[in-house]
Amino acid sequence: HLRTGSGRMKVVVTRDLGPDAMPLLRERKELDLVVWSENRACERAWLLEQIPGAAGVLLMLADKVNEELLDKGFLKVVSTMSVGYEHVDLPLLAKRGVRLGYTPDVLTDAVADVTVMLALMASRNAKETAGVIDRGEWPNSTWSPFIFCGPQLSRTPPIQTRTAGFLGFGRIAQATLRRLVPFGFTHCVYVANPSTVPNPVQDAAYTKQFNLQSVRRVDIDTLASASDVVFVLAPGGDKTRHLVNEAFLRKMKKTAVLVNTARGTLVDSDALAKALKEGWIWAAGLDVVEGEPNVTVDHPLVKEPRCVMLPHIGSATFDTRLSMAACAARNTLAGVFGETMQAELEL
Ligand code: DGY
Repeated sequence: HLRTGSGRMKVVVTRDLGPDAMPLLRERKELDLVVWSENRACERAWLLEQIPGAAGVLLMLADKVNEELLDKGFLKVVSTMSVGYEHVDLPLLAKRGVRLGYTPDVLTDAVADVTVMLALMASRNAKETAGVIDRGEWPNSTWSPFIFCGPQLSRTPPIQTRTAGFLGFGRIAQATLRRLVPFGFTHCVYVANPSTVPNPVQDAAYTKQFNLQSVRRVDIDTLASASDVVFVLAPGGDKTRHLVNEAFLRKMKKTAVLVNTARGTLVDSDALAKALKEGWIWAAGLDVVEGEPNVTVDHPLVKEPRCVMLPHIGSATFDTRLSMAACAARNTLAGVFGETMQAELEL
């Protein structure tokens, strides 16, 4: 029922996916490929217009998969070029028997790299200090013993311990922790859903695996109070909205840093701006923020000198984006032809 007049199956793609992934799709003569090839987000009206008669759609984070879209046709597969899937109505997909492909694993290292970068940038006042150069103020800022100082990420005497805290302890969190071990981190605390029950057996295994003095599953209050750096690396969506709120931020150490490379919705931006202004914590490094990309210079966090912000570039390396695109293309093909996907989310 999904063959077009030409006898081929229609597949809609909401971006040009570059030199590795497009040929994977184009070389399949059984497909009728419809591509939004402009270098800007695909227009919703265009997407909705293309869905009737399509067997598959390959789309991006900004393209909502909801009733409005699914009602337009009889899709076999939705393939998102992202590891996150809060733009997809999962129960609805399950109800309609539509498969979902996504792109975990291939972006883990790129995001973990940026996570560590933000921890360093936030601790060491990168925004404020780079700004001194950008504004031509370096000649006027005479060197003095404590100017531009911040807390040290690595452990060197006299620092005895370093504790990394993870809100969410999945693939990217663990890849981040692996990078922190050579910095001399000694302890790790984490909060992992769905269970909050302590798991000493698992924790002993993690302690050994990461070669730390301890790795402990804790409650969210302990996470806030025990960590030198809190890394937010849990999925977005309603269940995790504002887990980092005023109460959480007030429990953090004054010298601690908050890094969010997951989803903006996990952190209450107003509470974070207040925490930075009033010195409840040292600094923040954000790759994501609530309401993105509508973030302009009058945003309260953009105005904070100790808040380093990046425009959601966690996975933005050439290698990773090419791999994500290829994975999304393969998932689409597998969904359309009823084969095993490279990465399918169990619904
Ligand atoms: C994702 O894949 O979900 C990231 O946020 C963007 O790469």
